[in-house]
Amino acid sequence: MRVLVTGGAGFIGSHTTLSLLEQGHDVLVVDDLSNSSEESLRRVAELAGREPGFVKANVRDEQALDAAFADFKPEAVIHFAGWKAVGESTQIPLVYYRENVGSTITLLETMAKHDCHTIVFSSSATVYGELSEPPFVEDAPTGATNPYGRTKHMVEQILTDVAAADPQLRVGILRYFNPIGAHESGRIGEDPKGIPNNLLPFVAQVAAGRREKLMVFGDDYPTPDGTGTRDYIHVVDLAAGHLAALDYLGNNDGCHVWNLGTGKPNSVLEVVHAFEAASGVEIPYEIVARRPGDVASSYANVDRAHQELGWRAEKSVADACADTYRWQSANPNGFGEG
Ligand code: UFG
Repeated sequence: MRVLVTGGAGFIGSHTTLSLLEQGHDVLVVDDLSNSSEESLRRVAELAGREPGFVKANVRDEQALDAAFADFKPEAVIHFAGWKAVGESTQIPLVYYRENVGSTITLLETMAKHDCHTIVFSSSATVYGELSEPPFVEDAPTGATNPYGRTKHMVEQILTDVAAADPQLRVGILRYFNPIGAHESGRIGEDPKGIPNNLLPFVAQVAAGRREKLMVFGDDYPTPDGTGTRDYIHVVDLAAGHLAALDYLGNNDGCHVWNLGTGKPNSVLEVVHAFEAASGVEIPYEIVARRPGDVASSYANVDRAHQELGWRAEKSVADACADTYRWQSANPNGFGEG
């Protein structure tokens, strides 16, 4: 199948592009490289033994997108491109609405114009907010507590409305829990710019000596060890979830929502200890105040993805820590070293 992948040079996008190529699909990546590197695609090509096409463009760039669709004639789209830092989204909300919501509207219009009727969208467990208790089921009430989360929630609503209006459209909304890890080759992985917001990249940089210690945000949550718990899913499992969703949409109409997680919560300290065990490196840490906006616990009920997609996460947090450490050790400056 010809699959157009927006944001395909990023962390989850590059791993999914690799999986698509490995499964024999043809891929065109559309990415403006604002938070990613073309080097990731060179490495994807090296791992897959064949190249994805690449167009350097923002998804809001109607002309560039139109030309890409006219040329490549995609049969499906996977839409990763977007901004994703919760804190930043509270400072520059309009950029988030423009980049995340605006781009999706342009994309859907372009798809309609070019008779492309299948889209898989990167949503987030953040849409469960604090409206219900984990494990979250897909039918739980949704909302969001920050502009980033609201953009994901709005795009879900837009996709639902557009699918209701257009019976030809097939939509898969994937709610990711906490993606971690790297490809086992150590050639591609997560390469955050600046100080990492997320736990695993921060821990990896502490292990590499780039940062002195981890700040653990709170140890007074109502969890077994007092630190926050999350559902950490290996990025290679997550990539496989996208292929399973595409397969499903090949045979099923309508708009569908699936959680992609492991169903198992792990605490911050459990992740730190798993990383120490995988790397043999001690991770110094300090307990500090809770981070504003954090919830105590977030993890998925994964029954629907298992039943409908036949998909299940297979890799463990220990696997993800070993893969992250391999990636970080081989590429101390991410893709910066070429
Ligand atoms: N944490 C620390 N220290 C750090 C970074 C994180 O203790 O330096 C803790 C957090 O408090 C939390 C856990 O590690 O308990 C995970 O934090 P992350 O920032 O890695 O992930 P979040 O669960 O906060 O964020 C993720 C996604 C967001 C999404 C959010 C809500 O990265 O895109 O889930 O679903 F919005």
